[in-house]
Amino acid sequence: MSHTTNGAANGSVAVAVKVESGGAAAAAAADTSAVAQFDAVQEVVVQFKQICCWVPKLVADPPTFSKAGAARLVGLGPRKDARQSKEEMRQVLFDITGSCEPGEMLALMGPSGGGKTTLLSILGGRTPKQTRAEGQVMFNGARITKRVKRQIGFVLQDDLLYATLTVYETLLFAAMLRLPKHKSKAEKAARVEAVIKALGLTRCRDTIIGDQLRRGVSGGERKRVSVGHELLINPAILLLDEPTSGLDSSAARKLVELLRELASAGRCIITTIHQPSSNIYRQLDTVLLLSQGHPIFYGKGSEAAHWFDRLGFACPFGTNIADWILDLASGEVAGKHPSGEEARLHLIACSEQFLEQDPGGYCGGELDAFGLELRASSRRSSHALELQDAAAVAAKVEAGLAGAAAAVLGEESGEEEAHADAAVAVNGGSTHLGALPSNKAAAAVDIEAGGGDNGKRGSWLQRRGSSKRHMLADRAATGLDRSATGLAASAPGASRWGASYWTQFTTLFIRAVRVRRFETLSHQDFLQFLTVGLVCGMIWWQVGQKDTLYAAQNARGLLFFEGLFLCFRTMFTSLFVWPNEQKMMLKERASGMYRLSAFYLARTASDIPSDLSIPSIFIAIIYLMGGLRHGGWFFLNWLTVLLSTLVAQTLGLLIGATVMVVKTAQTVAAVLMLTFMLVGGFYVTSIPVWIAWIKWLSFLTYTFSLLMKLEFGGRQLWDCSIGDDENFNPSDPWNYVASGQCEPVADLNDSFNTSVDINSPPWEAAVLVGMLLAFRLAVYIALRKKTQ
Ligand SMILES: Nc1ncnc2c1ncn2[C@@H]1O[C@H](COP(=O)(O)OP(=O)(O)OP(=O)(O)O)[C@@H](O)[C@H]1O
Ligand SMILES: [Mg+2]
Repeated sequence: MSHTTNGAANGSVAVAVKVESGGAAAAAAADTSAVAQFDAVQEVVVQFKQICCWVPKLVADPPTFSKAGAARLVGLGPRKDARQSKEEMRQVLFDITGSCEPGEMLALMGPSGGGKTTLLSILGGRTPKQTRAEGQVMFNGARITKRVKRQIGFVLQDDLLYATLTVYETLLFAAMLRLPKHKSKAEKAARVEAVIKALGLTRCRDTIIGDQLRRGVSGGERKRVSVGHELLINPAILLLDEPTSGLDSSAARKLVELLRELASAGRCIITTIHQPSSNIYRQLDTVLLLSQGHPIFYGKGSEAAHWFDRLGFACPFGTNIADWILDLASGEVAGKHPSGEEARLHLIACSEQFLEQDPGGYCGGELDAFGLELRASSRRSSHALELQDAAAVAAKVEAGLAGAAAAVLGEESGEEEAHADAAVAVNGGSTHLGALPSNKAAAAVDIEAGGGDNGKRGSWLQRRGSSKRHMLADRAATGLDRSATGLAASAPGASRWGASYWTQFTTLFIRAVRVRRFETLSHQDFLQFLTVGLVCGMIWWQVGQKDTLYAAQNARGLLFFEGLFLCFRTMFTSLFVWPNEQKMMLKERASGMYRLSAFYLARTASDIPSDLSIPSIFIAIIYLMGGLRHGGWFFLNWLTVLLSTLVAQTLGLLIGATVMVVKTAQTVAAVLMLTFMLVGGFYVTSIPVWIAWIKWLSFLTYTFSLLMKLEFGGRQLWDCSIGDDENFNPSDPWNYVASGQCEPVADLNDSFNTSVDINSPPWEAAVLVGMLLAFRLAVYIALRKKTQ
């Protein structure tokens, strides 16, 4: 492999890459020259030391009405992120140490459940909430900060993309949000085009991503879009979880070749990989093989065969070495041992013993020097027993870390900015471990020492450097420009957020509208409102035009139904919003794409046109067909119902955001709405005193009361129950009074048995606005908690 520096253009260095491995570049789908067009990345060394991780033995119940769920729902239960003690947890990663350098492609391999995803998440600073991790992850010698985290590309195992956006839209929206604000829109679009070209996505540029319902791009293309999503920020570190899973061998090979090229241009690529073909395996520089969380090999991919051969597990002729080592890690090969499991434990003991001698070093050539095989065999039985006892291992790890005050990963304290500054200081020079200027190396060691490592780290760094000498020497010959600037201070004026607040809001708003272009304002919605409106109009035909008490009682039903129907519908639609968006929100927030408030405002604002436009047709139909009060009253009725609909929408959002499980949210919403409906003032007018307060919690009470005021406030009605109500002529009521068929209604409040004076000012509007604002704020707080 060779690298050549093309020279500087516009202040950035373009790196042309020529990949010679097996003519792979020629076969790559991606346009290699496009990869070379990316700005040179600053070089970052990722180091991880003694990573241990514990996961809960029992998964917490989702919030339901069962058990503690209900208590948690109302905030009385134990905090969800309350830490379990180690005894209640299961250790899934044991003392993993290693590093990845610019230009290196490190593969995390191992059988399913081996801990690859967990380790990758920890390396990317995304330790899942319920898990507990210990150890250190350093980027150019400094601890991860939120700002550094945002500059790491992280491709999840499952592609998480909006199915209804096209490839171009997906990348463009991401570019608008992730690229720094000093870049113009044209520059961002140009970056998107470069990524599309580099990833070979030109043919499907305008195809939607698709899902089970709508056919879109192929699986391989979707995976490349996921990679492109991260590539947009031109990350120095790219972490990928199973990028080749679900791809056919050719698509997988092309993708890995692309990763190889990206690595060759000075990036750190760390990827988990499942059963690579021999072609793919050859592209990997370094392999970290995990067996149930234990490293059983860490070294150059090309040396794995030798390592296992020396330990008595020679790869049989014709077997793909990747398959062979996975079989070994799964405990499926017994060799000279009584069982595969015994053999696996022996291999764990061997690598552990070797790596103990050379922490962070490679398993490999110096095997004989350590006389490892002999010593490992003699220790095997006792060590095997120890390994089987997770608690013993945990204790051992803890003892090893005692006094080290090892960083607890996944947590960021108020020290964050201090660390960010430290990162800038440390990263000011070359990032070669072997070539760290002494003052920088000292700074790196200082930061570690600050973590309580008592200088141990310095010798570890030294050893780590020496064990990779050969690889560094290779790279020194490549002529790559290594004048790295600090990772945290990469972009000019690097700020916490890529785009400005306004750009975040507008981009997210447009994206939210585009994402739902197949659902919103659909024909079904239109037909639904039209049909229900027409049916209501016919049932309550011109009921509002008669001024009799009898007609008014009917009109009350119409008014109540008008608000109820729209509120019910909107509320149940909005329950789905946050549970559906949660995964995407968590992913994008972890990449620091936007502020939560910008997403929240944009997402909810994007719903408003559809939540309010078609309902307006419904309101108009029933108002006109029902013959409700003529004149400007229509406008006020419309405003009231829309306000109430917004309150219902917000309540739905609140329930969804609090519960985040659609089924539970539906149950909560049904109970609430039915209660609100019953006490809303139409069905039950005299509620027992001790429970009467409930009606004041119901927004339907205020809506109905306001609609009643608008329709009947200041109106004279006639009670014709003694005569023939059907023949009553509202234009000549006194005639009926004179004939004894009707009499004027003296007190409407009495007749309707209302608790609010129909002729009082419309204060309910203020209550509804207050509820709307309070619920909106509560939704934001709930979302904050759920996405922390
Ligand atoms: N949040 C969690 N709660 C409980 N157990 C967990 C959690 N996360 C991971 N685990 C457990 O940790 C172990 C390692 O999981 P991980 O997802 O890292 O494996 P993996 O190597 O990525 O597997 P695969 O190849 O199937 O993706 C598994 O046994 C898994 O069940
Ligand atoms: Mg996984």
